[in-house]
Amino acid sequence: MAVSTSQYDVIIIGAGAAGLMCAATAGYRGRKVLVLDHANKPGKKILMSGGGRCNFTNLNSTPANFLSDNPHYCISALKRYTPQDFVELVDRHGVEYEEKAPGQLFCKDSAKDILNVLLTECEWAGAEIRMNTSVSGVQASGSGYTVKTSAGTLKCQSLVVATGGLSIPTMGATGFGYELAKQFGLTVLPTRAGLVPFTLHPELKQQLAPLAGVSCPVDASCHKQHFRESMLVTHRGLSGPAMLQVSSYWQPGDELHINLLPAQAIQDDLFTLRKQKPQSTMAQYLNQHLPKRFAQAFNELQGWSRPLQEYRNQDIEQIADTLGNWTIKPAGTEGYRTAEVTLGGLDTRQLSSKTMAVLEQPNLFFIGEVVDVTGHLGGHNFQWAWASGVAAGNEA
Ligand code: FDA
Repeated sequence: MAVSTSQYDVIIIGAGAAGLMCAATAGYRGRKVLVLDHANKPGKKILMSGGGRCNFTNLNSTPANFLSDNPHYCISALKRYTPQDFVELVDRHGVEYEEKAPGQLFCKDSAKDILNVLLTECEWAGAEIRMNTSVSGVQASGSGYTVKTSAGTLKCQSLVVATGGLSIPTMGATGFGYELAKQFGLTVLPTRAGLVPFTLHPELKQQLAPLAGVSCPVDASCHKQHFRESMLVTHRGLSGPAMLQVSSYWQPGDELHINLLPAQAIQDDLFTLRKQKPQSTMAQYLNQHLPKRFAQAFNELQGWSRPLQEYRNQDIEQIADTLGNWTIKPAGTEGYRTAEVTLGGLDTRQLSSKTMAVLEQPNLFFIGEVVDVTGHLGGHNFQWAWASGVAAGNEA
């Protein structure tokens, strides 16, 4: 029987990082692949990532860089498609990149370079990409699926869901993947915004207002997860890598602990300083170790105006505690509007860790951010998108 044009081996919903990687992989296996996306352009999040330069992988990525209710699930795919594998792909396309922070690889020029690698690979692999196409329904039919779209009804043997998470709805993010999973009787774990700035209660927000725009290296922690990176005070609250990282571990009502001088033995420093230079002030001490504006405003906020000799041991201990364990209770986060990722999602216990296929429905696959695997900041999320995309592309 002749195969109609609306019959595909593989249909992938979502032309983002994971979907495009999967499409090229399956296409190279000789599969007839169609990628559908309701947005007007593919890979929009790739283009906006890494400040427009896409932190496309992290050479030091390990399973410990991922959050999941089923932490072992990601190990297999990450092991079989490594950061080095993606670097080799990028090298083959002549993309120039640089290591901006240990392990974090960014394009030297533009994130467009990474999107072009993926689109070129899809073209070479013969995978078709159809944008501006919305999917209104999916049904199992025989051993495959029928996909109703704004461009007509299509059929496929394997269906791959790569619709991402809920973050940045203005970029085309939807809960479609979760709804589809539920339709097929699968469990979706509660979702929440991750890698997202914190908002503050009005009083603290007002107190910190003079610090807006200032960043300093800190050790931020929540639930014993420590991140030693920089913190940025903004007009809305607290951001910067340290805050984004710790936000993925934060739940409403939790406190954050911030060591403002992680490189110092603060209490010892202050006792020594009081002995050697009794007239010196906290402002002088802070000026040595923090950005000037931050030192000044934080000192004013705390009202530490007297010479050190006037502080008792107990006072010094308290000051050291305030600096080393500044404890704040955020009002919330900025939510999906600005979050880089969505935590939670499809419960991975229902998927094969080798192929990303649903255990009970071997022709249905979920990859990328829609599943409950979320990386730390620093290129880990794209590495998961590549690795899970390849895993499914080798099977679908
Ligand atoms: P992704 O969101 O990329 O793609 C999903 C696709 O599905 C989209 O094209 C969407 O239009 C489509 N879609 C959704 N619903 C649909 C529907 N109903 N019908 C049809 N199509 C539908 N990570 C990292 O490692 N390094 C970095 O530098 C950054 N930087 C960064 C910056 C910002 C601002 C954000 C928001 C995110 C990042 N990330 C990141 C995270 C990274 O972008 C993210 O983890 C991956 O893009 C996830 O890839 P997916 O393919 O799973 O989803």
